[in-house]
Amino acid sequence: MKPYFEHSGIAIYHGDCREYLPNLPRAQCVIADPPYAQTSLDWDVWQAGWIDLVAADSLWVFGTMRMFVERSSEFLTGKWRMAQDVVWEKHNGSGFQADRFRRVHESIALFYQGAWSDVHHVPQMTQDATRRQTRRKARPAHMNGIREGVYVSHDGGPRMMRSVLRVSSCHGYAENETQKPLGIVRPLLAYSCPPDGMVIDPFMGSGTTLVAAKELGMSAIGIDRREAQCEIAARRLSQEVMVFA
Ligand SMILES: C[S@@+](CC[C@H](N)C(=O)[O-])C[C@H]1O[C@@H](n2cnc3c(N)ncnc32)[C@H](O)[C@@H]1O
Repeated sequence: MKPYFEHSGIAIYHGDCREYLPNLPRAQCVIADPPYAQTSLDWDVWQAGWIDLVAADSLWVFGTMRMFVERSSEFLTGKWRMAQDVVWEKHNGSGFQADRFRRVHESIALFYQGAWSDVHHVPQMTQDATRRQTRRKARPAHMNGIREGVYVSHDGGPRMMRSVLRVSSCHGYAENETQKPLGIVRPLLAYSCPPDGMVIDPFMGSGTTLVAAKELGMSAIGIDRREAQCEIAARRLSQEVMVFA
């Protein structure tokens, strides 16, 4: 297997992920943004069999509720268990069907193998607590196990990230038709992959997962069957990571 691009622990392969996945090392985490088969884009065709080929402790999958329901028999074969789901709330929608609610979100589901206690998962914290979000309330009995001051802030300090993440879409700078923003991919990766771990993205597109992995110092492998996307991802990875104070 000859990589299309390789540098500092990050590799890109050009081709069908179903041909590469069986030959790749087991990863701590896979982040997959597969074709949902819900648009007229020529590559947006469901890639039968890919889920079964993934070898990892945890698997984040972007999709719609409809996609997960329609493909549930492929996700729930007994190999994977579902742990949780996160919603990406966009600032504007992508679908404009006049007879539906205007769609401004996507779902991201986390699956895992083995015992949950053995799977790397580190709750992510955020500094953007607001007065409304941090108003003190009497703690219900079922929350006794959550330590005061660590997971919940009353003063605008760090708090647990919510399962609905509001992040602007890549409108205006996207290099993939359905590019995901770093602001969504980064916390998923930091949650599920140890700092010295490896992530695989079988449907890499413009390489967002690989850029996030590079920022976090992780190893990563990305695969895309369109050479133009491999070229874009390689260029993004060749640019220096900007570090803001
Ligand atoms: C939804 S896009 C991924 C976008 C990516 N998350 C980003 O931020 O740019 C899905 C990508 O999967 C690629 N793809 C489709 N079938 C594939 C296959 N069998 N193997 C590898 N890549 C495939 C498409 O070319 C497309 O770029």
